[in-house]
Amino acid sequence: MQEPIIRITERPKPPQPEELNLRFSERAVLELEALLTHYPDKKSAMLPALWIAQREYGGHLTSDAIAEVAYRLGRSYAEVEGVATFYTMYNKTPVGKYMLEVCTNLSCMLCGGYRILEYLQEKLGIRLGETTPDGLFTLTEVECLNNCGDAPVMQVGDIYCRRLTPEKIDALLEELRQSEAHTVVALADAEVQLHLSAQEREQIERALTQS
Ligand code: FES
Repeated sequence: MQEPIIRITERPKPPQPEELNLRFSERAVLELEALLTHYPDKKSAMLPALWIAQREYGGHLTSDAIAEVAYRLGRSYAEVEGVATFYTMYNKTPVGKYMLEVCTNLSCMLCGGYRILEYLQEKLGIRLGETTPDGLFTLTEVECLNNCGDAPVMQVGDIYCRRLTPEKIDALLEELRQSEAHTVVALADAEVQLHLSAQEREQIERALTQS
C-alpha cells in the first residue's frame, strides 16, 4: 500500500505593495506609526492595527484590509487572518451601520435578555446574525458585557444600553435612525483613540492640519 503523501506548501509571503490597493488614510498611517512606538516589534501592534483597518474599510475586515495590515506590519496574510478570525470584535463579513449586541449570559438571561432579543427580532423583522434590508442594524448575541448589575444589557457601538425594556429599545432605535453616533465605524475609531496618548492624538491633528 502506498504511503500517504504529505505536501508541505510554502508559507504565504506578505503581499507586496504592487499587489495591494492600499486604503489607509494619512490619519491612519500616522496613527499606526505612533502605535508602533508602543511595542518592541510590529507584530505586537496587530490588534490596534486591525481596529484601524476595521474603521478605514467601513466596518469590516475585507481580505484587502487583512492584506494591508499584513503588509504594513511585515507579517504574512495567514498570520493576520488568524488573529482577525480569532477575535469576535473584528467583523469578517459586512455588517449594518449599527451592531446591536445583546448579552444573553447568566445575569442578563435571568433578567430577560432573551425577551429583549425576541423583541428586537420582531421589531426589526430580522433573525439573529442578520442585517435589516436598509443596512442599518445587525443583530447579534454576545457573552457577558461586564455590566451584570444593570442587566439586561446591549452594546451598540461605543455605548452600553442598560436595564433594557421594550420602551427603551423603541426610543433608542428612533434615536439611532436620526444619528451618526455609536456606529460600527465609531466604535473602531474609539478603540484606536484609546490606544493613543493625548499627546500623540494632538501631534497627529497638528501634522494633518499642516499637510
Ligand atoms: S451577564 Fe450580561 S452583562 Fe454580565
